[in-house]
Amino acid sequence: MSKAVSGFSKFTKEEKINWLAKNFFSDIEKGVSTLKQYANQNGKLQQLHDEFIENTISNFYIPYAIAPNFIINGKNYTIPMAIEESSVVAASSLVAKFWSTRGGFQTKVISTIKVGQVHFIYEGSFDKLKAYFDDIKSKLMEATDRLTVNMRKRGGGILNIELHNKTSDLSNYFQLHVTFETADSMGANFINSCLEAIAKAFKNKDIQIVMSILSNYVPECLVRAEVSCNVQDFFTENAEYYANKFIQAVEIANVEPYRAVTHNKGIMNGIDAVVLATGNDFRAVAAGAHAYACRSGKYRSLSNAKIEKGVFHFWLEIPLSLGTVGGLTKLHPLAKLSLDILQNPSAKELMQIIAVAGLAQNFAALKALTTTGIQQGHMKMHLVNILNQLEANLHEKEIITSAFEGSTVTQNAIAEALHKLRTEK
Ligand code: MEV
Repeated sequence: MSKAVSGFSKFTKEEKINWLAKNFFSDIEKGVSTLKQYANQNGKLQQLHDEFIENTISNFYIPYAIAPNFIINGKNYTIPMAIEESSVVAASSLVAKFWSTRGGFQTKVISTIKVGQVHFIYEGSFDKLKAYFDDIKSKLMEATDRLTVNMRKRGGGILNIELHNKTSDLSNYFQLHVTFETADSMGANFINSCLEAIAKAFKNKDIQIVMSILSNYVPECLVRAEVSCNVQDFFTENAEYYANKFIQAVEIANVEPYRAVTHNKGIMNGIDAVVLATGNDFRAVAAGAHAYACRSGKYRSLSNAKIEKGVFHFWLEIPLSLGTVGGLTKLHPLAKLSLDILQNPSAKELMQIIAVAGLAQNFAALKALTTTGIQQGHMKMHLVNILNQLEANLHEKEIITSAFEGSTVTQNAIAEALHKLRTEK
């Protein structure tokens, strides 16, 4: 049977589901009913989600949770998170509590510059190109006047346009490197529209525009989050030993890329969950963060730690391009609610909150890794997933959960315990 289809996007939703069911579902009734079960009963709300993308046939749920008790620069925050990984929110809440009694998190925005580029090919002399650029630069700015008027009112706009000679990397390759301030919006559409207007005004018979697009590498849209406490307050017992071991773990992530990727993945567990919950672009943030981790030419830890004059410091510097207006932020009802929960932050405040979520996850992971090991906490949280997978009922869940209190959880051990419970009845 041919599974190719034409004109699919013009099908009604019902027709799309029927086509899918006929071609791919082993159990048509169950498949269709699962899709329908996840569709929202409120037609207007479902339509809103349908229209975010093309060919929507249902919704894909990810748990939406909150982690309270974060003290950031002296202010109390409850942080919304959208994530499927079982231990992330629990870890956030524990770490928030831990640092709330040790002065909380300190944060600051270092810079908020974003970048876009017009990539082009030019075969003539650089001096001639440079003279043309110098001559036309003010006209390039003027070409975006209509597009930037509102952004300028909000304190943003185009900061500069530079001509970059990239011919040592690729023959005849040049670019206009444009820097932007986009105030409270992430600014992707704004930046791309400006770049296309600039490219149109710039091109001539000798300049072949290849493409105009924002960059998700934003090393100058940078935020820092830090926690610190007296080494003696780090732990109730053997505080200095564990603080040093924690620092060694960070140092290992700084020199060993295999570890650094996992270390930074843990940071992104916290970052992405809040980025998603606030309707921001987690792919853009992840791409920019990992590129930043590589800025020295080697992939390294995004966080750092040290002990100085008896004080333990742990901090994270990460590029975050975020918005609190535009995009999905006000359109997705839950994203809007997330911003409400965060007391309607500016984009700069959101950068700080999200950096804290990342630092908190990293702290939780390193603390567990350098003390009990990661599996104790992970498997405890994963226990419910295992029980659900084994279709345990409420009564069985209660018995097994309390039986495994304080002992190691493994899939096999749970399966065995459940089997025993069921056969002993
Ligand atoms: C798991 O999602 C994240 C960790 O592997 C991070 C780390 O190892 O630092 C626990």
